[in-house]
Amino acid sequence: MLEYKVDDKTLCAQQFIELAQQVWPGDYDPEKTRRALERTINITAWDGTELVGCLRILTDGCFFGTIPEVLVLPRYQRQGIGSALLRLAKQTTPTLLYFGAQPQAEPFYEKNGCTPSLRAFEMRPEE
Ligand SMILES: CC(C)(COP(=O)(O)OP(=O)(O)OC[C@H]1O[C@@H](n2cnc3c(N)ncnc32)[C@H](O)[C@@H]1OP(=O)(O)O)[C@@H](O)C(=O)NCCC(=O)NCCS
Repeated sequence: MLEYKVDDKTLCAQQFIELAQQVWPGDYDPEKTRRALERTINITAWDGTELVGCLRILTDGCFFGTIPEVLVLPRYQRQGIGSALLRLAKQTTPTLLYFGAQPQAEPFYEKNGCTPSLRAFEMRPEE
């Protein structure tokens, strides 16, 4: 039985990194991950003690917010978990959420009622 937690303060960096590693393998810095998680509203899906999905909301609380990422463990995908996380995000966010989508995830967002918006650009900080 899956359990969803909104604004999950119990989520720790190690659990998030274990999930992220299985979706997007990479070199995640534990301290930076901890600080990042502190600054976002984290919506989680748990199967017992295993973190199987996570959506983070980064918002200024008044005007603008974004979803840094939605992650579902590969063996739990296509079972409605991502959609449930998005529904909870819609109920929770104080602001509009504007976010980029990986091309393969576009059908997922469209199916969940998200609408195409302005084209995105990025600017990287000076070295
Ligand atoms: C994208 C992701 C979050 C979706 O989560 P999920 O739990 O698998 O999604 P759901 O089961 O709620 O899917 C709902 C619907 O979205 C669509 N969908 C989901 N994943 C899809 C995919 N990979 N390709 C095409 N359509 C997809 C389907 O229409 C699906 O309904 P169906 O299974 O009845 O056909 C998950 O696949 C994931 O973590 N992917 C890797 C990371 C990623 O790409 N994140 C998004 C970054 S922008």
